[in-house]
Amino acid sequence: MVLWRNFAKSLRAFPGRLALMVAIPQRVEHLQTDKGSVPVYTTTVVEQPWDSYTDVDHDVWRTLFRRQREILPGRACREFLETQDAMGMGEDQIPKFSELNAQLQAKTGWTLVGVEGLLPELTFFEHLANRRFPVTWWIRKPEQLDYLSEPDLFHDLFGHVPLLMNPVFADYMQAYGLGGVKAHGIGPEALAELTRLYWYTVEFGLINTDEGLRIYGAGILSSKGESFYCLESTAPNRIGFDLTRIMRTRYRIDTFQKTYFVINAFEQLMKATEPDFRPYYSELASQETIPAGNVLASDRVFHRGTGEGWSSAGDV
Ligand SMILES: [Fe+2]
Repeated sequence: MVLWRNFAKSLRAFPGRLALMVAIPQRVEHLQTDKGSVPVYTTTVVEQPWDSYTDVDHDVWRTLFRRQREILPGRACREFLETQDAMGMGEDQIPKFSELNAQLQAKTGWTLVGVEGLLPELTFFEHLANRRFPVTWWIRKPEQLDYLSEPDLFHDLFGHVPLLMNPVFADYMQAYGLGGVKAHGIGPEALAELTRLYWYTVEFGLINTDEGLRIYGAGILSSKGESFYCLESTAPNRIGFDLTRIMRTRYRIDTFQKTYFVINAFEQLMKATEPDFRPYYSELASQETIPAGNVLASDRVFHRGTGEGWSSAGDV
């Protein structure tokens, strides 16, 4: 019903122009989730309406791309920078999904699919389980360069897509999707625990390398401020990856993270995700969640945060 109302509205706005109608993101409703109240969009896969991007859209891409590529060498992991170059993702204009897909399919068998925005969880997991990565087709406005409350094309494409060219990371993303489909069938607690794993790895993960800590999480890679903060600020904790510890750890959606988790290698992620998670969900059912900024005696601490600038509430 809601969907139909939106459809009818866009039809009135653009009578007779079917091509233009797809260039309006279709919000269906707001959903209260563990990420707060988030807009949920139609689950439809859409053709990237590349011809509808304006000069301003391409400028936004160029500005953000240049800015991040200027600061990421020495901060992002080598694999990210190399795969981004290898797939031909450049600054000139918003990339065409079809061109990136040719590279991705040849390398790891992944396919980008265009979507209107955040998807319902099960739909999202099903895409990952089938090696399809949903990418929001629209890009933020020039006045939103530094903050946007929901993922857009820059976050999805610049932040997430390059590492899908890495065979181990690509397998991890699929394993995560398969796990997500299972967790969805188990219940909301399992889903919340699995979502924390995505948050602290795919979105905000750090990796330990011979040259020091480096970024691989897309939420950081697509944010100038957090690219500096996660590595150089003394405020946040940096703690070694521990699967079930992460699954108990709450997180922040409205500020930089209080804690970052550090993996040794992508193989570690893949290995941790291989087992059936059902015994973990049973084990975690009797345990409390951990506030985002806490350090435990059992943690492998790379850096204990000073907590400077942290607000006391807001973990979800
Ligand atoms: Fe993301």
